[in-house]
Amino acid sequence: MLMFIIIVTVYQLHAITEQPKKEKCVHRNIPIAIIYNRVPKCGSTLMNTLLELVFNKSHTFRFITSTDYTNFRLSATDQLRLRQQILNYSRQVNSTPIVYEQHFHFFDFGFEMNNNLFYINQLRDPLKRALSAYDYTLHRCKIAGSDEPCVLSSRSLINITMDTCVSTGDPSWCISEPNGVSSAISFFCGQLSICDDTYKPITNYAALALAKSNIERYYPYVGLLEYIESSLELLEFSYPAIFRGISEFYQTYFKDKPVYRTPAESRYPINNKTRTTLRRLLKLEFELYYFVQKRFIDQYRQIFHRAPRRQDGKVR
Ligand SMILES: *[C@@H]1O[C@H](CO)[C@@H](O)[C@H](O)[C@H]1NC(C)=O
Ligand SMILES: *[C@@H]1O[C@H](CO)[C@@H](O)[C@H](O)[C@H]1NC(C)=O
Ligand SMILES: *[C@@H]1O[C@H](CO)[C@@H](O)[C@H](O)[C@H]1NC(C)=O
Ligand SMILES: *[C@@H]1O[C@H](CO)[C@@H](O)[C@H](O)[C@H]1NC(C)=O
Repeated sequence: MLMFIIIVTVYQLHAITEQPKKEKCVHRNIPIAIIYNRVPKCGSTLMNTLLELVFNKSHTFRFITSTDYTNFRLSATDQLRLRQQILNYSRQVNSTPIVYEQHFHFFDFGFEMNNNLFYINQLRDPLKRALSAYDYTLHRCKIAGSDEPCVLSSRSLINITMDTCVSTGDPSWCISEPNGVSSAISFFCGQLSICDDTYKPITNYAALALAKSNIERYYPYVGLLEYIESSLELLEFSYPAIFRGISEFYQTYFKDKPVYRTPAESRYPINNKTRTTLRRLLKLEFELYYFVQKRFIDQYRQIFHRAPRRQDGKVR
């Protein structure tokens, strides 16, 4: 008798959940896809290592890494291909979530996928990020063989420090894509032409506004390198079934160890004049950064009832 009741109840529940709901029906079996369209020089290599450690240990998600490090802007065809690729991966792994990482400017995967898909990212102080990107680019070109790719328009520039660049030329050119310094705004703004930083830094308030609204809408999580421990804590708390253990891996392997990718001899300090000039030119990037910082602090406070912990100087 009891068995019968259970069966009937289960059947009825099934019948209720099976009600045709047009949108929901289509993707009931598609697992969650988390897209990490990593902004360069924000500690994303560290983040990738942490994700790989969690993936290797617990397989709570399938981690898919891209080998395309340079094409941030995706044509309509590229977008379709990536969309299909994510769907393919999702089908292969049954119901396991996937985490996909690649440096690329945001795009909307479309309503059929958006119910099961969200973006994450990590940001960093824009001035530190610009200097890190600039020094890294020069360093890469220094160590690259003459037949290997170098982002710089000319290899004769490899000894030009940021101070020299800013004081002798067009400072806004020094912090642009031709010198390996990309805009973080572009990564959240997307594929529209107003989001394109290929030739010059983003100075358009519409691009900033779009970046902010995409963050609100598509990015439940954007961490900050200056708050790396608290950021990981928030990420793990928000998605415990997926990111369990990520904070502990950080504590075990990276705590109190600065993570450098550009060797010390290839990193140059800047003088106060350069700092003032660059801060002014990065005004919109700072606005985005402060927007994300406020949002992060609010999210963190709401969950943990305390302020997140700031730690500077971890990565260059
Ligand atoms: C994860 O596992 C793979 C395969 O065993 C290994 O090559 C890789 O180094 C591991 N990653 C980390 C970060 O330990
Ligand atoms: C996705 O899978 C289909 C069928 O297996 C295949 O034909 C297609 O090439 C795959 N697409 C991508 C982008 O991986
Ligand atoms: C850069 O500096 C190094 C070391 O001082 C020097 O050997 C090299 O010729 C310089 N390269 C250019 C392109 O100025
Ligand atoms: C640069 O600015 C800092 C404070 O922002 C100040 O302490 C320092 O004295 C300044 N350096 C020079 C050379 O003016």
